Amino acid sequence: MIRDSVRDAINAQMNREFYSSYLYLAMAGYFESMNLKGFSGWMQVQAKEEHAHGMKFYGYLVEQGARISMAAIEAPPSEWATPLAAFEHALAHEQKVTARIHDLMDLAMKEKDYATAGFLGWFVKEQVEEEAAAGEIVFKMKLASAEKGAVLLYLLDHELGKRGKTA
Ligand SMILES: [Fe+2]
Ligand SMILES: [Fe+2]
Repeated sequence: MIRDSVRDAINAQMNREFYSSYLYLAMAGYFESMNLKGFSGWMQVQAKEEHAHGMKFYGYLVEQGARISMAAIEAPPSEWATPLAAFEHALAHEQKVTARIHDLMDLAMKEKDYATAGFLGWFVKEQVEEEAAAGEIVFKMKLASAEKGAVLLYLLDHELGKRGKTA
């Protein structure tokens, strides 16, 4: 049985994962409005992944016999100045999430909650991938606008589209 402090912190992180899903879905809608279907498809897949992260925390609390409590999900923005601004936001968001996961890990260690620390290990690794993926796209987009903007942006949209659109 986990301590209340750990349960509450995990419950809060579950909410933040669902917020992440909501944020990326908002970004998908923004790209949809610009007819950038590849970008939108990428964001939809990302939104699904974040939902799955939320469910991992949900499942862990259930496994620990803890009571789930669903808090309100904050409304994300629906507009960004440019596609680059949206991806810069995504990268900054992932960096914030990484810090929260590390805070959770610190709490688990402080409480000598080894089961929770082990469970969180997956998220520590996942955040490295998440930051790398968003960072790479930001880098490519900056390159695209510095060079032959329109053509490279088109190629990038095509590349992102390969990840596949989910309905
Ligand atoms: Fe996540
Ligand atoms: Fe994420």
